[in-house]
Amino acid sequence: MKLLFSKLLALLCVASALAKVPRGPRVQSNLLPRETKSNGRQDIVTWDEYSLMINGKRLMVFSGEVHPYRNPVQSLHLDVFQKIKAMGFNAVSFYVFWGLLEPKRGEISFEGFRDLQPFFDAAKKAGIYLIARPGPYINAETSGGGFPGWGTYTPGVWRTSNQTYMDAIDGYVKAVTTKIAANQITKGGPVILVQAENEYSGIQEPYTEDFDYQKKLLKLFTDSGITVPITTNDAWPGGKFTSVDIYELGYDSYPNGFDCSNPYKWASDAVPEYFWGAHLGINPKDLNAVYEFQGGAFDGWGGSGYGTCAVLTGPEFERGEIKLAFKAPTTF
Ligand SMILES: *[C@@H]1O[C@H](CO)[C@@H](O)[C@H](O)[C@H]1NC(C)=O
Repeated sequence: MKLLFSKLLALLCVASALAKVPRGPRVQSNLLPRETKSNGRQDIVTWDEYSLMINGKRLMVFSGEVHPYRNPVQSLHLDVFQKIKAMGFNAVSFYVFWGLLEPKRGEISFEGFRDLQPFFDAAKKAGIYLIARPGPYINAETSGGGFPGWGTYTPGVWRTSNQTYMDAIDGYVKAVTTKIAANQITKGGPVILVQAENEYSGIQEPYTEDFDYQKKLLKLFTDSGITVPITTNDAWPGGKFTSVDIYELGYDSYPNGFDCSNPYKWASDAVPEYFWGAHLGINPKDLNAVYEFQGGAFDGWGGSGYGTCAVLTGPEFERGEIKLAFKAPTTF
């Protein structure tokens, strides 16, 4: 919200500055004229430096995150979406769990609880836009980052352009992006953005960012008919995987960390103030977005349990309050 207000303030400042411009040479501004951008594959979802636009109408995206694979009862999706809408959100982003859809190599299933269509239909019915995040890698949101178990005995370095990996993802990526493509807003569906990969950042030596992998992955997406803008989710404002349609400095921030065993201890930088500066430094002409803002915390094997994680990232943190050192409940 803070960012929105500052953007609004910037807009107002520009407007009042223009009103005072004397006749004479035109004043150059890096804010005007406003340039609406499109990826050239469709014209329903566009953007400028302020926001996304749907059919030319500005949309400030307030998105929650829901994972269809956590709710095997397909008929309950609508209830969840309606509640999210009632809380004031207009969008939901969702991961797809590759390992669940292709537990045995070459046998991809969208049957029963694996079917994504009821999820798409419920979002549309509730009036919620969807941001699809099919990976193929989805990090800590599920075991093995969503990779199937058979990946552990498939040779080659994964998340690179190595052919053994590209062969491994081929069936899943084609199948899932085809399902997503059929549910894009351009086809009357709820999907407005598709994210490629996830946090393709922090690559450790001796490996480097594999631009060839990114290119091949994007081609798989567009070959399946993904026309809405493709985005990425950087683990931090690091400028990785910028070849997508809208890099937009879409990044993560988990300022309160992940120490669920000390849920009442706040990180020293728990109220981050660098977002706007980072955006201006990397891509001031695209919109600013935080894709994951401490939406939760994970707990490893033998950890203190998700009850404590819910405290770490709970209402006090959400309200940005400084936590008082009161006694933590011993059971959750
Ligand atoms: C890809 O991975 C395989 C299996 O580890 C390896 O034999 C091959 O050399 C790799 N290819 C490249 C181009 O690195």
